[in-house]
Amino acid sequence: MKFFIDTAQSAEIRTVAQWGMLDGVTTNPSLVAASGRNYRELITEICQFFSGPVSAEVIATDFAGMMKEARDWAKLSPNIVVKIPLIASGIQAVSACAAEGIATNVTLCFQPLQALAAAKAGATYISPFIGRLDDIGQEGMHLLREIKTMYTNYQLSTQIIAASVRHLEHLRQAALLKVDIATIPFKLFTEMLKHPLTDQGLAKFMADAKKIPQ
Ligand code: E4P
Repeated sequence: MKFFIDTAQSAEIRTVAQWGMLDGVTTNPSLVAASGRNYRELITEICQFFSGPVSAEVIATDFAGMMKEARDWAKLSPNIVVKIPLIASGIQAVSACAAEGIATNVTLCFQPLQALAAAKAGATYISPFIGRLDDIGQEGMHLLREIKTMYTNYQLSTQIIAASVRHLEHLRQAALLKVDIATIPFKLFTEMLKHPLTDQGLAKFMADAKKIPQ
């Protein structure tokens, strides 16, 4: 499974990249607004130190506007992936981007037929939002499972990104489903390394190490 980080904080991206665990970066307008950064400056900065796929989202919702933004983003760096919302004009933009060789990440996917449509349009990635479905009492993991089955049935090459990942159980279940990628917040990168028995075991090893004759 590939790990993408879902963040607008350069420092978090640098940290996880230094750990050797990072395969890609996703951002969205809400994360960027919360960071207080200019979107273009932020993405330019990230692409200067990180060469894996970096998703930058269009703000327009009409086809012409999305294509203008998609081409602008794509010019910024060869590793840019243009994030496009799963609406009819977005699907049209995904198809046009595919024809122009622009990589896309189709965002805000909440049901499996949306994912099938995105794949047929030529999306590079599809992002089902599992946490937001859990939030409204549905089972986000069920959506992942159905998309995985559909893509396998028809040998579709669009890569699935488990998005809106809220806790380690999401990550564990997505990995067991053999989902291609999970995009996860920084805190889960640190949480996934932890277990109380690791801390206890390390404390004992360190204490015993002091008893080893020099
Ligand atoms: C993915 O690309 C999105 O940016 C993200 O996973 C959304 O997560 P949220 O539901 O926690 O906002």
